[in-house]
Amino acid sequence: MATAAMLCGLNAYAADEVDTSKLPPASDKKIDFVKDLKPLFEKACFSCHGVKPRAKGKYFMNNREKTIAGGSSDEKAIIVGKSDKSPFVHYIADLVEEMEMPPLDKRDKYAKLTKEQVGLVRAWIDQGAKWPEGVELEAVED
Ligand code: HEC
Repeated sequence: MATAAMLCGLNAYAADEVDTSKLPPASDKKIDFVKDLKPLFEKACFSCHGVKPRAKGKYFMNNREKTIAGGSSDEKAIIVGKSDKSPFVHYIADLVEEMEMPPLDKRDKYAKLTKEQVGLVRAWIDQGAKWPEGVELEAVED
């Protein structure tokens, strides 16, 4: 479907056009957000996507609502229940040029996620992106 890209106008990236066959498979594990993903997000993402002086962007991952909503683009970062359609997943799997997360030029400090980690994120989204009420990501020492 070419129309999505056309409707997006300036937005070069269309979630529809990503080759999702390149995505690592979703894990079949039942995800416990606090144990399985919170520490990973805090280490790999939160220095840039948290409310901290160093945060440059407009995307904040403090809580579930913000993490799903996305930042400056109109598109949601996470489509709950559909990890293959979620920009968040496309970015962490390096499927979108210039939007690799963590950014390619920062990989010395923020490592690329492993296939297993991407699989856990996919399973989490597919299982409803559950994130217990009141839990917020916390800044880690770096
Ligand atoms: C070294 C800093 C840095 C790290 C680490 C980083 N990002 Fe980003 N990220 C950026 C910048 C800069 C942008 C573009 C500006 C913005 O939207 O915040 C961005 C944009 C994004 C967006 C698009 C937001 C939108 O809708 O506009 C998502 C989703 C995202 N990052 C996810 C992640 C995830 C998940 C991680 C951890 C695995 C991560 N990022 C790690 C710097 C970083």
